[in-house]
Amino acid sequence: IMKIVRAPAAVTAWSDRLRREGVTIGFVPTMGALHDGHRSLIRAARLACDALVVSIFVNPTQFGPQEDLAKYPRPIARDRALCRAEGVDICFEPTAAAMYPPGFQTIVSVPGIARRWEGEARPHHFAGVATVVTKLFGIVRPHIALFGQKDFQQAALVRRLVTDLNLGVEIAVQPTVREPDGLAMSSRNVYLSADQRAAAPLLYRSLQAGAAAIRRGVREGSAVERVMADVVRREASVTVEYLAVCDPVTLEPLTAVDRRAVLLGSVRLGSVRLIDNLLVTVG
Ligand code: PAJ
Repeated sequence: IMKIVRAPAAVTAWSDRLRREGVTIGFVPTMGALHDGHRSLIRAARLACDALVVSIFVNPTQFGPQEDLAKYPRPIARDRALCRAEGVDICFEPTAAAMYPPGFQTIVSVPGIARRWEGEARPHHFAGVATVVTKLFGIVRPHIALFGQKDFQQAALVRRLVTDLNLGVEIAVQPTVREPDGLAMSSRNVYLSADQRAAAPLLYRSLQAGAAAIRRGVREGSAVERVMADVVRREASVTVEYLAVCDPVTLEPLTAVDRRAVLLGSVRLGSVRLIDNLLVTVG
């Protein structure tokens, strides 16, 4: 039977008790509006651990002042039903007041990984993510936490901060779950109009074209970026924010592809921003 818990201290007490009994604790942090991408993380966690916590918290500190915090979807009854059906033990739903009480001031920053790409488009976003993930790990004290490759820069940032701060949480990254036409699932896809939804798979197609160019032997980062940009240019309703060839650990741009690269992309359709990525291994 799944417990819905709001108080951070109650989750910590539960976790500490299970840890003493030798139970392994898995954790999937989310902002709710759960879809099949979240579901795949929850299923992988269920298989890997004895006990499973999912958090649902629309974290205000990772939204910019002009962003969608107020209108972010919050279908809480559906989210709980999905968690229950997937065998989640604790659905942790803290309030913003419990997470950020008066006097709160500590910020976790991972400046190198946060500098580019999403960090450039969304100042303070990654400080908000790094801070809330650190807090959630301190509350839940999991053995393993699962993240989606969909948010590649976020997963890289979490790996970095867990190493740098000796948090002792194993990080597992799961493949991106996609719609049949290739669009990466996202809670924000509901913002797309019918026309925008029809154009949205172009982002993934452009990344695939970049990966194909690398497989054909193109090695220069800028040449791969041109191939990707050419795919998106054909559709006037899609604006490129960035299409880049990067080192998968540091997220710095690569002048030449050798061994491993991640193709990172973001486009805008009207006011909706989409992100996606593709990992490529050479040789
Ligand atoms: P949210 O956007 O709800 O995503 C929760 C987790 O689901 C993240 O690890 C994300 O990468 C993963 N995810 C989202 N779409 C996915 C897809 N199509 N395939 C696979 N995994 C997918 O990311 C956040 O919340 C927040 O920043 C959070 C980490 C909870 C901190 O507030």
